[in-house]
Amino acid sequence: MTKKERSQYQCSNCNFISLKWMGKCPDCETWNSLHLSQVITCSKTGKVILKDSHELKSQSICHYTNETRNYIKTGIEEFDRVIGEAIIPGTLILVGGEPGVGKSTILLQILNALLSTRINEKALYVSGEESCGQIAERASRLKINNERILLCNENNWENIEAEIKSSRPAFLIIDSIQTVFSHQNEYLPGSPGQIKEMTYNLMNFSKANNITTFIIGHINKEGSIAGPKLLEHMVDVVIYFEGDNSGVYRLLRCVKNRFGNSNEIGLFEMTELGLKQVDNPGSCFITNYENDNVGKSLCCLLEGSRNFFVEIQSLVLENKHGNGRRNTQMFDSNRLSMLLAVLEKYINLNFTFTDVFLNVIGGISVNNHESDLAVCASVISSYRNISLPSNMVFLGEVGLGGEIRKTRKIDKKLYEIKKYQYKRCIMSFQDHIEARERFPKLEIVGLKNVKDLSSFLEQFKNLKTIA
Ligand code: TYD
Ligand code: MG
Repeated sequence: MTKKERSQYQCSNCNFISLKWMGKCPDCETWNSLHLSQVITCSKTGKVILKDSHELKSQSICHYTNETRNYIKTGIEEFDRVIGEAIIPGTLILVGGEPGVGKSTILLQILNALLSTRINEKALYVSGEESCGQIAERASRLKINNERILLCNENNWENIEAEIKSSRPAFLIIDSIQTVFSHQNEYLPGSPGQIKEMTYNLMNFSKANNITTFIIGHINKEGSIAGPKLLEHMVDVVIYFEGDNSGVYRLLRCVKNRFGNSNEIGLFEMTELGLKQVDNPGSCFITNYENDNVGKSLCCLLEGSRNFFVEIQSLVLENKHGNGRRNTQMFDSNRLSMLLAVLEKYINLNFTFTDVFLNVIGGISVNNHESDLAVCASVISSYRNISLPSNMVFLGEVGLGGEIRKTRKIDKKLYEIKKYQYKRCIMSFQDHIEARERFPKLEIVGLKNVKDLSSFLEQFKNLKTIA
């Protein structure tokens, strides 16, 4: 029984496969790029047996560390910081956010910034949602007029692939992944299976062809996601765009970065000319914060290298039927339940017959445990109908024993608190002595536990409250 052996060659540039060797790849027209990839053995029965060609593929780590990479910077500082200072070509970046938050706008601005310094490169913007005319209209509003940005209105993966192959862009935008589908699989357009398949295709394609790809993914109002969350493990970088559509400020947050730091944020302001960087974020998420403050408190957050203030609001209402609701927006509801349990145990508040609603103003999510003290203060304030002064900032994490923990980089926060002319800062007892020495002009209050917090807040009981 004789077996027939045949060789298979693959192009190292575009992955084109040929059964005979050629000097020039017929697909991408690169010279000397076809290499032996596999030997195919056909048995008499016609069965194909794949055999490795024994070509050693592993390389010393030094081969890769010494390789010079052409890192890409956009020049938009707030974005570059979020992405880890520079992008490695071929990276797959997922940009998630609610509809209308500004994803298409910022990516168009990023493409324009990228191409302005790379005069030989092109970008392809594939839109399955808006027509090319609508994108062009947005571009003209943003004063973007670069003929190397190619627009294409397409949903079908096979057509998109063909378009990329013929236009050969260095940068690709898919707006949005929820609209791309292929007839090669059995999933419905927009279904989780289809979205995963399409991302897998994009990942293979962008890596093989060294195309830096941005995938836009919509998330719903609750933040739990039908699409992007499923894709986080597949892509190299995940950034989310947060912010209240009715407000002007937007926060870009990196939650995963295979090539760099992943806890940075970038701040932008939505203007008539698109998104502008915000250099001094400080109080940008605080609006109309005045003296009638039942259920409201402030905390100062340090996210990456930026400090800013956020306002926490809570509403505690009697619920005669028991089994009270816990409803949070932009805050982890499990964390709220934990803090309520701590308050119930150590200061005897009874939440069994109450509904508790908690909201972070400005539409940005707060995952930082250092906001715990501000959350507790706002809940106690609403429960007891105590109006808190507006010049007071709460800093500190609350433990399960009701203790108030030390705060990271407290000097940086106190500096910001002083700069924005807040008068009082409430923090852990351990932090307060040193803080008083360093910031003598601030009124600094050190508390050991939530019991101390409760007695501290009692002094404001007689302040005027809303009727
Ligand atoms: P868009 O980028 O379309 O959001 P997404 O792609 O996330 O759905 O931005 C939508 C909002 O941004 C829209 O309400 C209009 C506003 N906008 C401005 O305020 N200024 C501008 O220059 C642009 C282009 C949009
Ligand atoms: Mg859009």
